[in-house]
This record gives sequence, structure tokens and C-alpha cells, in this order.
Amino acid sequence: MLSSERLAGERRILLVGLGLIGGSLAAALRAAGHRGEILACDRDSNEICLGQRMKLIDGGSTQLAGLVPGASLVVLCVPVMAMQGVMAEIAPLLDDDAVVTDVGSTKGAIRDAAIGVFGHMPPNLVLGHPIAGSEKSGVAASNPELYRDHKVILTPEPDSDPEAVARVAAMWSVCGAQLLDMSVARHDEVLARTSHLPHLLAFSLVDSLARQDERLEIFRYAAGGFRDFTRIAGSDPVMWRDVYLANRDAVLEALDEFEAGVARVRAAVTAGDGEAMLGIFTRASHARHYFNTLLKQTSYQTMEQQNVRYRALPGGQVQGRIRVPGDKSMSHRSIMLGALANGVTEVEGFLEGEDSLATLQAFRDMGVVIEGPHQGRVTIHGVGLNGLKQPPGPLYVGNSGTAMRLFAGLLAGQAFDTELTGDASLTKRPMDRVANPLREMGAVIDTAENGRPPLRIHGGQPLKGIRYEMPMASAQVKSCLLLAGLYAEGETRAIEPAPTRDHTERMLNGFGYKVERQGAEAWLTGGGSLEACPIDVPADISSATFFLVAAAITPGADLVLEHVGINPTRIGVINILKAMGADLSISNEREVGGEPVADLHIRYAPLKGIDIPEDQVPLAIDEFPALFIAAANAEGMTRLRGAEELRVKESDRIQVMADGLAQIGVEHEVVADGIDIRGGAYGGGLVDSHGDHRIAMAFSVAALRAQGEILIDDCANVATSFPNFVALASEVGMQVENLGAVAPGQEAS
Ligand code: S3P
Repeated sequence: MLSSERLAGERRILLVGLGLIGGSLAAALRAAGHRGEILACDRDSNEICLGQRMKLIDGGSTQLAGLVPGASLVVLCVPVMAMQGVMAEIAPLLDDDAVVTDVGSTKGAIRDAAIGVFGHMPPNLVLGHPIAGSEKSGVAASNPELYRDHKVILTPEPDSDPEAVARVAAMWSVCGAQLLDMSVARHDEVLARTSHLPHLLAFSLVDSLARQDERLEIFRYAAGGFRDFTRIAGSDPVMWRDVYLANRDAVLEALDEFEAGVARVRAAVTAGDGEAMLGIFTRASHARHYFNTLLKQTSYQTMEQQNVRYRALPGGQVQGRIRVPGDKSMSHRSIMLGALANGVTEVEGFLEGEDSLATLQAFRDMGVVIEGPHQGRVTIHGVGLNGLKQPPGPLYVGNSGTAMRLFAGLLAGQAFDTELTGDASLTKRPMDRVANPLREMGAVIDTAENGRPPLRIHGGQPLKGIRYEMPMASAQVKSCLLLAGLYAEGETRAIEPAPTRDHTERMLNGFGYKVERQGAEAWLTGGGSLEACPIDVPADISSATFFLVAAAITPGADLVLEHVGINPTRIGVINILKAMGADLSISNEREVGGEPVADLHIRYAPLKGIDIPEDQVPLAIDEFPALFIAAANAEGMTRLRGAEELRVKESDRIQVMADGLAQIGVEHEVVADGIDIRGGAYGGGLVDSHGDHRIAMAFSVAALRAQGEILIDDCANVATSFPNFVALASEVGMQVENLGAVAPGQEAS
């Protein structure tokens, strides 16, 4: 049932307390077209009159007695400490089918109040909290938009009536709010930190300044910082007094944490310790910035819970000169090695994507001072191989398998315990491929069931070097072992069944740590040290691939991709596209910081299907989603074999690509370790990327030659590797649009 239909079934909505919150609720319901009766009760008859004149309510009174009988939905909008009295008053008057909810900023105390009145939590009482407000108060400040796109947290109990919960949820949905469920205890903890503590500090700061003699002078010269920091000190004092009376314990805990933080800043200021200050401020500034990125998608939740949809239209062009963002593999490694080096490492071309930013934050959490990123520049104040500190909590590495596996190696050698966690996609990926050889080296690591994340790494274990024959061609496993090897006694050797990217080896050598190689075997000896060195991260060939394929399949296309990393272990895509007949040339080849770089020039030429040589598979491992689209546009059949590793990437890339190809009508057959794809005309359709960034981008490219629009669901993770993909696509003439949040699977756009 639609929320508006459900809400239309309410006989009478009664607002108890008609201030900013109650008034805005009435205004939002009216603005959404709710025509049912809305009455209000308030101690102040002027507020009732004003509410009526503003056409928010149909009537009201200062007394509850005449309003409660007949009300089907009662919303308590009074200060927290007044709740118990109001509940006691309405209890004997409520209709049998009436549902009661509230808007209080703390929930535990209100639940206690309800139990005090009713003897238990009644199934028809559903506590709620809209995370919205203003420093203004009173019904005059009512705003019909106050709840739009804001969170409303409901804290239903196990025996709450589902119908009652649905009716309360319907009311808030109609106001444009986004609903979340939480337990009462969790709500109070979260709000103590995110709302109650900042309000307390704002009230206290303004009060302490206002007490000083020259206060007028201070306020006259108070600049933006004071103004921004203290805006919320203008909020309703009674409401906030009640919050602190009601949520005392959680607020005190948050205040303790805050006081400890202030003590750290104070110590740094006292000692004139600029490095410590920079550490605190860069950590905070980055966290603030990073939270904002997350918050743009949704607050309180991780990105993956929201569906971001792309619409890609046929008929675009692919023209011009562009530089795609920095290489993801090298960006991760630049932070890791820079942090472990002695001295200051300057990085340029760093990828400011969610994955590498998470790695950066993880090192900040381990006490490394990192400035930036600012336009791809990062300055890392290395702490040396043994200078990391225990992080305050689990290290969250987002969507990144690379980060988790490389971290596993370098954390296995630390003196302290750590835990590595990631998002829903990463939590499904195999980690025993690193946990097992690390255990052979002496590491103590716990995984979840079937070797999945989270990883718990027990510190303080002496590691010894091993010679490990890797069962799969994986740069991540190799890199993990080499990083653990830095801390191990003797030599650590990794033997790969086929060549994989060698950025770890090259970068370690760049930092003055000798890594040797003979044939398939790479090794180093533990106990050395890394010395800081400048790093210039080239553009990521894996990101460039989407534009290479776009140009390769679009008649008239002519595109130059600048400063692309063309490390021989990464150029499978160039070899494969050339074998398919692409008109691709490499110019301006040079070496930058130990890595080969070039400009890639590609023009349209008809493609033909090929059997992809198996030795190219590890060299193009991230490029297959895009290459499948090249195959769909080639004449004849393209066959891929020996690519079972694709099944354990950010998604099962064989199956998820096959499902998408089926949606748009591309003929194909899946096998365990690959796929056959027959090129030909195809249509549009709705494709689910399963949160896999490369699949989302691949189908955006496919639309260039489709006969209808392609809608792609679950695209938020494009930000992990290619945050400006949509902008660059439109710069070259492709027609890809981010439609923002759309219900998953919904056909109409
Ligand atoms: C990476 C190695 C590859 C690749 C991943 C990045 C790296 O994974 O797919 O995107 O930076 O080492 P595997 O080593 O698992 O093949």
C-alpha cells in the first residue's frame, strides 16, 4: 500500500505540542496533499490560533480531554521530560485502534516513561525521532520541507504491532523523510555523539564567552568560526535541558571521549608540537570531508544501501584528449610505503577515490600524519617500519580487496592487534589466500566463516620468511607476502604461476628496499628500511580502458588518453584490443618514477572476435567487463578462458556481466572459467551492476552502440576507482547521466 493511501486512512491526527516540530509535521502533511483532520493541543492558545491561521491544523485546544477520543494517530511533540505527564493524561482517553508516536531526541527515557504509565511498552506505541530541526522555535517557524530527505529513526520493540509501525512510517514517508530502524540503546548512543555533545559544547562555549566582561567586543569581532560553531546554541533551552536530563549516561560517555581529545590537543599546543597538531587536524579535516562524501549518498548508513542509477544513451561521441584519474594500485601502495618509510614522501597524481582514501584514513588511524589529498597531492610523514600505532578501532577498507590483502601482510608484522573490515561486497571475498601463507610465516589471523572478512590479526608474532608457490596469479597475494616479508626473519619468496602487476616490487625498489626477481620468483630479505622518495602516480590504465573501448566501438571516434601507466604487467588490454583490430597507437613513451608512461591514441576501427590468449588474462584482469563490451561489438565470436579469478572480484564478473548482456540482448554462453560472446546489434535495458564499479562503467560504454537507453543500477561504487567518470564521459561526448537515488529495479526513469 502506498504511504499516502495508508495515511489517508487516519481519522484524525492529533499533535500534542505545536511548536516548530509539530507545526512542520502538519505543514509537510498538508503540502503533501493530506486532507484528513489534523488537530493540535498546546499549553499556549496563541500557538493554536496561529496554527489555524496558517492553515496547518483544523482546530485545537489547550486541553487534551476533548481531542484524544476520536484520534487515530497521536504524535507527542513535547519536550522529553513532559512526555510522562502527557502519556498519563492520554492513556485512559485513547481509542482502541489509536497509534501513538513521539519525536523526542532521546528514546530510553521516553520508553521508561511509557513503562511507568502503561506498565509495559504498549504494542501501539512506536517511538520515533526525526533528525531535523532548526535553531528557530514555535509554530511560526514551521517549514513543510523540514523533514524532506532527512532521516527519521524509529525504535520499534520486538512486540510492537507491525501495523502501528507501518502507520507511523507512512506519516513520515509522506513528509519526504527516509526511515531507519534502530534499537533504543543504539539510538541514544549515536545521538549522544552526533547531536547532544555538539549542542552541549555550543551552549557552553557561547555561555563562557558571554560571561566575559568585554563580551560585546568579542561578539562584534566574532568571525565565521565562532558563528559556524555556535549556531546551534540558539536552540530551544528547555528541550535541550530535557535531553541532558534524559540521556545523561550516554552524553557523559561522549563528553569523556571529548575531554580526552581536548587534552591531547592541549598537550600538543603546550609543547608546541606542530607535528602532533597537524596529525590531529589532518585526520579530522579528512574525516569531515570523507563523511561528507558518504553523507551525500546517505547519512548513518554506508553507501551500498542506496541505489544510484546511471542512464546511458545511445548515439554519443568519443572525441578529444583526457587524463583519467591516478592508478588505484599505485595509489594504495604509495600511501602504504610512504607511511612505512623514514622521511617525508610527496605523492602526485594520487587517486582521490573511495578505496584509496580509505587506505589513507587507515594510516591516519594508525598515527601517521598525512597532508592532503589536494588535487592529487599527498604528503606523508613516514614513521618508519616500526612506527605505526594501534588504531582506536577496526580499520575499514571499504570496497577494496587490494587494501585488505596488502594490509593483512603489513599488519601481521606489527606489535599490536588489528581488525580489518570492509563493505558488503568485500565481506564476501576470499581472504584465506593471504591468511594461509601468512600463517605459514607465523602470523596469527582469524577470519570469519570460509576465510571471509573481517580479519583479526594478532600482533607481536615473530614472522619467518617462506618460499610460497602461489596457487593463483595474484598481485595482491604476492604483495601481501612481500610486505609481511619486510618484518620477517630471512627471505620471503613468492612464485607466481603467471606474471602479475609488479608495482609493489618497483615501488619498494624506489624506496631503496631491494626486491629481487628471477623468472617467476620475487623475493626480499626482512629487516631493512625504506627511505622516502617522491612518487608520480600515472593515470590508471584500468580506468582508461573504458574510454579505449568506447572509442574502439564508436564510428568517428578519435581520442587521446594522456599519461597512462603502461607497465608491461598491465597492458593486456592494449594487446587484446589490438588483436581485435583496434586502431590504437602509443606515443610519448617515458619513464616516471620507475614506471613506464605514455599517451594512448585510439580511433574507431571495426573489431573482430578473437580467442583471447590465456597469457594475457592476468595482464588484463580488471579490464574484462569493458572488453566484454568490445566483444559484443566485434564481428563474430570472442572466447575467454582461464579467467576463473573474475568470479571473486568486486562481484562475480563473469555471471554479473552475462546477466547484463542478457538484459540487452547480447548472445553469449558462460563457462566456469570464461565466456563466449557473439558480437552483433543489441538493445537497451535495465542492468544491475551489483555494486561493481567496473560493471557499471562497462555498460555505460555499451550504450554508445545500443539501440535503446541502458539504465544501470547500483552505481555508487564507481566512486571507488573513478569518481569523475560521468563528467569525463560527457567531456568526450558520451551521454551518461547520474540519476541519483532511484528504487532498485524500477523500470520507469
Ligand atoms: C590488484 C591486483 C589484482 C586486481 C586488483 C588490484 C593490486 O587483483 O584485480 O584490482 O593492486 O594488486 P588480484 O591480485 O587478486 O588478481
